[in-house]
Amino acid sequence: MQKPIIFSGMQATGIFHLGNWLGATRNWARLSSDYDCLYCVVDLHTLTVRQDPKALRQSARNVLAWYIALGLDPTANILYYQSHVPAHAELAWILNCYTYVGELNRMTQFKEKSAKNEENINAGLFTYPVLQAADILLYRTHLVPVGDDQRQHLELTRDVAQRFNQAYGDIFVVPEAYIPPMGARIMALQNPERKMSKSDDNQANCVFLSDEPDVIIKKFKRAVTDSDNQIRNSPDKPGISNLLTIYSCVTNRTMEETCAEFKHTGYGDFKVKVGEAVLEALRPHRNEFERLIKDTAYLDGVIADGARKAQALAVPTLIKVKEAVGLPI
Ligand code: TRP
Repeated sequence: MQKPIIFSGMQATGIFHLGNWLGATRNWARLSSDYDCLYCVVDLHTLTVRQDPKALRQSARNVLAWYIALGLDPTANILYYQSHVPAHAELAWILNCYTYVGELNRMTQFKEKSAKNEENINAGLFTYPVLQAADILLYRTHLVPVGDDQRQHLELTRDVAQRFNQAYGDIFVVPEAYIPPMGARIMALQNPERKMSKSDDNQANCVFLSDEPDVIIKKFKRAVTDSDNQIRNSPDKPGISNLLTIYSCVTNRTMEETCAEFKHTGYGDFKVKVGEAVLEALRPHRNEFERLIKDTAYLDGVIADGARKAQALAVPTLIKVKEAVGLPI
């Protein structure tokens, strides 16, 4: 029996943060026994914002090395660059012809990104969700682990898949969002009402996995708490609750255990302890990243292997699509 397929992607910006790790990749690493998983570095999507060529190439490699360093075994998962599998761009073109401008106009991410980037509202930014749909549909993906910010893109993917299937028969699998059984939502340290994000204007909100140890501790020391000096997990204490979540995740404790441990601790000590626990848990992964990024031959091998495996899965779907719409094969 074939296992269900999971697909997810990250842009080639190469800056992993605590939210990506605890909320995403840490869960992904547990999935390979029950699912066939593809994790793509979506470098074509990254071109929608102007990039320095050298930095882009390095960032794409960093993302791949972080994937592995954070526990995604390249022999158990398919790790690859989107641009190495031309079927993504080809299917995206075809799907462009089955997606309405009205639908794309409604995408909140497009509105946000064009507001931020007024001097470069390019067509790629507009059709970004169609390329994302192609990524997902090419592999007959069943489940897509995505955060809330990507739900609208996944809905569009489902709509396009259904529209296409209605016209041509059962070509695509209509994918669903995958919500991990123990997903952690990590919030911004200075503004715990918002999700931790690398594009946050306030750098103190976001802990990057490659931040220097003293910077990481400093960011935790400065994390927003509240004024009553009680360590409890509760919706009216978003800052404290976020720190408790982070600590529980990195030490593999339950929330109850963590709360009991800090019952009599002051906020200052608590914040330092959380920072130290994060550093401690990160250390082996950081070391592994440093080792991998220098091992050019190994990484090149993983990249070539991933592209080959992804290509082999993508091409049959693309051929079916071409057949369906009447393109010569
Ligand atoms: N748009 C996603 C993001 O910014 C990245 C992405 C591209 C993606 N293609 C995908 C995520 C396919 C899941 C599935 O996070």
